[in-house]
Amino acid sequence: MRSTSARVRPGLAAAVVAAALLTGCSSASPGDDFRPGASELGDPYVPGAGNGGYDVEHYRLAVDYDPASDRLRGQAAVTAVATQPLSRFNLDLQGLEVTAVGVDGDRARHHRDGDELVVTPARGLAQGNRFTVTVEYAGRPGTRPNGPLGGGGFLHTEDGAIVLGQPYSAAAWFPVNDHPSDKATYDIEVAVPDGLAALSNGVPGEQSSADGRTTWRWAQRAPMASYLTTLVIGAYRVETGTHAGKPIVTAVPESLAETGPEAVSLARTGEIADFLADRFGPYPFDSYGGVVVADPRVGYALETQSRPVYGPAFFLGGRPNFDVVVHELAHQWFGNSVAVTRWRDIWLNEGFATYAEWLWAEHEEGRSLQRAFEELYAVTDWSLPALDPGPEQMFGTAVYQRGALTVHALRRTVGDDAFFAILRAWTAERRDGYGTTGDFIELAERVSGAQLDDFFDAWLSGTTRPALPEPG
Ligand code: ARG
Ligand code: ZN
Repeated sequence: MRSTSARVRPGLAAAVVAAALLTGCSSASPGDDFRPGASELGDPYVPGAGNGGYDVEHYRLAVDYDPASDRLRGQAAVTAVATQPLSRFNLDLQGLEVTAVGVDGDRARHHRDGDELVVTPARGLAQGNRFTVTVEYAGRPGTRPNGPLGGGGFLHTEDGAIVLGQPYSAAAWFPVNDHPSDKATYDIEVAVPDGLAALSNGVPGEQSSADGRTTWRWAQRAPMASYLTTLVIGAYRVETGTHAGKPIVTAVPESLAETGPEAVSLARTGEIADFLADRFGPYPFDSYGGVVVADPRVGYALETQSRPVYGPAFFLGGRPNFDVVVHELAHQWFGNSVAVTRWRDIWLNEGFATYAEWLWAEHEEGRSLQRAFEELYAVTDWSLPALDPGPEQMFGTAVYQRGALTVHALRRTVGDDAFFAILRAWTAERRDGYGTTGDFIELAERVSGAQLDDFFDAWLSGTTRPALPEPG
């Protein structure tokens, strides 16, 4: 799904049908100029990631993982729409042996080219055609370098595995168009030895058991970027309940105390989501949750959709850490429901998630947000840009802190009413879709009536300290 909002899709589909009728062809015709889809999407932050020529709508994944042998067997059914006449196309898949590929039920030829799976269907796919590619594969999944973030991809642990990573990780365990600009919905089922949990994104489904293995099922009905998928397998204490009428699933390793800081932090997930919904607009997904992992290779937390994963470092002090919960839940609005299409815009994710922590600190601890802003403003290194920070700095302080400073400076400039109206309009209009920095500036100008190009230039990209805003 690559439209600005999933809601425009019916219109797009109708347009495609109309075009097909006009040209008198609804499937392949001699006039079609079938050609290979691009092998990457051209995002300079992630060379090689993603593929062109089609737009994925849905992934149906069934995997079986055996922690003892570290072997994974998988079946993926990927439903997509061709966005050009396709003679062949690529999926991203790292390692793993592919044994069979089909397109709409017919065997397709396939070969590997590095981390690409190249699929050649028996017949060309006409532009606008919806098709389903099935892939059977198996092997030992690998970690995936995550640049500045460190440990990511498929991390085999003593009792299971942890799969996550940004800017990508999905290709470590299933064939995928691995770039945030192509969101899709997911059905995920995971078979693991009885007694182990297999946690993933979205609403939990029925579990079933056979031959010593339990199959866990998950459904993510809101479009999700591939880096926001996660899979956590192992001995976990899983708590399932309901919050605001929706399922909430949290999990903490069995090795950690039942009343330890990890469980205490996760226990406020619903309350914190409500706090954010009061400011950002309705919670965008149909389930809640969070998973704490104990593996020190996960030196970060990640906003995996509807169920963030939290590394152990956040709880080392023995005290609960609500800030990180606030941060990852804020991403459900900023980054997940409204996603970037190019990583250069990552301040739209991290700046707002950091700002959410400031809102929480003021609310929870009475710490003056304005004072915190002024203190940080005074010590900020303005030589580093928040917008387009470069791949090495995509998780740098300029993205997080300067990003959040920009958010608060906007609030000071346009005033509280316009500011919160901007945030709500952004999350409502672009829900389940995408947004760029340009889109955000346009919306901020529309809602506030102010001219803000120079403001955003100075705060996001200027190399000298921007003037403090005149309160609006
Ligand atoms: N999107 C993640 C977050 O901010 C990335 C974490 C990066 N952390 C780091 N230490 N590099 O929640
Ligand atoms: Zn973040």
